[in-house]
Amino acid sequence: MTNVRAALVTGASRGIGRAILLRLARDGFDVAGTATSDTGMQAIDETLRSQGLAGRAYQLRVQDEGSVETLLARMKADDFSPLVLVNNAGITRDNLLLRMSSDEWQEVIDTNVTALYRLCKPLLRAMTKARWGRIVNLSSVVARMGNAGQTNYAASKAAIEGFSRALAQEVGSRNVTVNVVAPGFIETEMTEVLSEEQKGQMMSRIPLGRMGSVDDVASLVAYLASESAGYVTGETIHVNGGMYMA
Ligand SMILES: NC(=O)c1ccc[n+]([C@@H]2O[C@H](COP(=O)([O-])OP(=O)(O)OC[C@H]3O[C@@H](n4cnc5c(N)ncnc54)[C@H](OP(=O)(O)O)[C@@H]3O)[C@@H](O)[C@H]2O)c1
Repeated sequence: MTNVRAALVTGASRGIGRAILLRLARDGFDVAGTATSDTGMQAIDETLRSQGLAGRAYQLRVQDEGSVETLLARMKADDFSPLVLVNNAGITRDNLLLRMSSDEWQEVIDTNVTALYRLCKPLLRAMTKARWGRIVNLSSVVARMGNAGQTNYAASKAAIEGFSRALAQEVGSRNVTVNVVAPGFIETEMTEVLSEEQKGQMMSRIPLGRMGSVDDVASLVAYLASESAGYVTGETIHVNGGMYMA
């Protein structure tokens, strides 16, 4: 790599996004991570500093168009122009469909899917100009397997996969790749809330016999962001210990 490339990771205050941010910083990218709150932004700053790494934090609520506009303006003011975009921020609002409120449905769709439209579109401009770009979107094994109580989440993650295949075809000629990483059962706050019974059921379906770590996911994202992955696009790559074999 001749010049240091900038990378933006959404939802980097904790969990998988935090691990991705650290990994990309270690791999030599000029990184920025987003969080929804000041506390989350402080967490990003402290995490980077404690590991002796440089980088910055921005505030972003992906479901809010105004917040996206503010982020874009701040990045422009900082002359921070990402050629790597990792759409990691995501939420669950689980409920059986018969009991699911329209808010539970809409929040998940806005946060997990519409965010991709809002972020990829403006950030693609610099990537196509540079004739180099990497977009990595986070899906979930649930997009393929389904999961009772997660119709909203499964629909959102399946949409991310379709979106990515279509966009990969649009921007391939500009040397911009668009790929999806689909984690299985990863140890984070998102899975901490599951009961021991739910965790036991999940574990019995994992041939590798353990939950995944955030670094298992970050390694795959780092590969897709690297020069080595230059001929991989439109793919969904699973990192799930064999729980689902595509
Ligand atoms: N954990 C798993 O087992 C698993 C499995 C499959 C897929 N995934 C996917 O992997 C990604 C990361 O999951 P995770 O487990 O690391 O999640 P997590 O621990 O719940 O962290 C979520 C991150 O997203 C941010 N975020 C939440 N709502 C947001 C919003 N409206 N706008 C912008 N940022 C927002 C959070 O920021 P704040 O700290 O500011 O709230 C946080 O940084 C998600 O897309 C998830 O669907 C996770």
